[in-house]
Amino acid sequence: MPKPKVFVTRVIRDKGLDLVKEFCEAEIWPGELPPSREVLLEKARGVAGILCLLTDRIDGEVLDAAGPGLKVVSNHAVGFDNIVVPDATARGIPVGNTPGILTDATADFAFALMLAAARRVSEAERYLRAGKWVTWGPSTLLGVDLAGKTLGLVGFGRIGQAVAKRAVGFDLRVIYYDPSAAPAWNASPVGTLDELLRVSDFVSIHTPLTAETRRMVNADFLSKMKPTAVLVNTARGGVLDQAALYDALKDKRIFAAALDVTDPEPLPLDCPLLRLENCLITPHIASASTYSRDMMAYLAAQNLIAGLKGERLPHCVNPEVYER
Ligand code: GLV
Repeated sequence: MPKPKVFVTRVIRDKGLDLVKEFCEAEIWPGELPPSREVLLEKARGVAGILCLLTDRIDGEVLDAAGPGLKVVSNHAVGFDNIVVPDATARGIPVGNTPGILTDATADFAFALMLAAARRVSEAERYLRAGKWVTWGPSTLLGVDLAGKTLGLVGFGRIGQAVAKRAVGFDLRVIYYDPSAAPAWNASPVGTLDELLRVSDFVSIHTPLTAETRRMVNADFLSKMKPTAVLVNTARGGVLDQAALYDALKDKRIFAAALDVTDPEPLPLDCPLLRLENCLITPHIASASTYSRDMMAYLAAQNLIAGLKGERLPHCVNPEVYER
């Protein structure tokens, strides 16, 4: 029996790639950059499966380019805002993602950003490297403490809960706004986002990017935060209005922000946020631990292969395709 043809849009970790190669005739895009739209449309033609990254937009056009033999789209990410899921559902194509295995890595990183922004770690390192450190100074690079403060989590899914768990050890009081989540760990729900913003010393975003959350962190949101507060975003760049954040940080209307995600990615080097000392920005690496990236590749391969075999995907974001 010939192996099913698939297109893998980037070289992923061997733990997943080896599995894909064992079961499939795989064309693997070798570039460091994602395939262009034209290349994606061309390579998708006639395949039974697509294993894509969050940098690839998968919509009806790509699905139709693949044609009626397409059985599965497997995203190498837990977030799937790069995929127009209704387009896949309308065509009966299951879409897979990689939840769970990156929760700890991402929560660790959200915490790293929170500590780094609160204690001005990257600003301090720039100061040192620029030769500005002349002596130990009683008032040099003062930051804010975590102990006794309030951490407000916007979104309380797997990653938000893992952040709450970590917060116990830092003596933070944790509150969250997420009408669909039950309390866990030490965290208490609040009834409104406004209430969360009004009382939180740290605000960390853990929502998916959807039509409702797009630009949710806007001028109005930021104006409700404390002037001493720190904002952390490890979710998606589209959740935030960067121009509004720039104004708030420049005018010191909040203390600092730390972003692992931006819009666009990569962030152009002339982005004004990069000129601010109180804005820490990293290149979307919250899940970038060896274990997480190995396991993301592995889960993505498992989803792909299950779809090719006509089996239910272990992690499917549109299970309604199985109800038809
Ligand atoms: C990373 O951002 C992911 O969604 O897995």
